[in-house]
Amino acid sequence: METTLIILKPDAVQRGLMGRIISRFEEKGLQIVGAKMTKISQELAAKHYKDHQGKPFYDGLVKFMTSSPVLVLAVRGVGAITISRNLMGATFGSKAAAGTIRGDFGVSNSFNLIHGSDSPEAAERELGLFFAQGEVQSFDRPGDAWVYDMSGGKAE
Ligand code: RTP
Ligand code: MG
Repeated sequence: METTLIILKPDAVQRGLMGRIISRFEEKGLQIVGAKMTKISQELAAKHYKDHQGKPFYDGLVKFMTSSPVLVLAVRGVGAITISRNLMGATFGSKAAAGTIRGDFGVSNSFNLIHGSDSPEAAERELGLFFAQGEVQSFDRPGDAWVYDMSGGKAE
């Protein structure tokens, strides 16, 4: 099982798209195991996007991410990092495929609705930035017996 960090960015919150976006993850079969509404500080944005520091879009990105509250989610499942990135779609709303979150809900390249960790290392680091110990839950969902094929002894 993997856990990934998802952020519904300020535009998703302001546009009233939180419920519809969360539904995409739940409908896919992924499990929401953490949720927190917060306004990201300059300091936290700088830590979160440290790999983009110095890039031409960095200042605008930090300004956007700190401009209004976000909803931070911890999302779990087998292959959750890649599955979530596929649900999100390509970075730019103008290019993201129809059927993806960015493809269906936005046209902007910078107001692109959602963040998702891009590797296991990034997921671990980013979950640690946004969730304190004990804030990410572990619980069984009976319905997972029909989400995953467990007949071979592991989730398929
Ligand atoms: P994210 O980190 O937000 O999940 O997005 P991503 O992996 O798809 O894209 P990434 O390359 O990590 O870029 C982070 C965010 O910076 C903005 N961006 N603008 N103008 C540009 O060339 C440009 N490139 C990136 C986007 O808001 C992107 O989500
Ligand atoms: Mg990224």
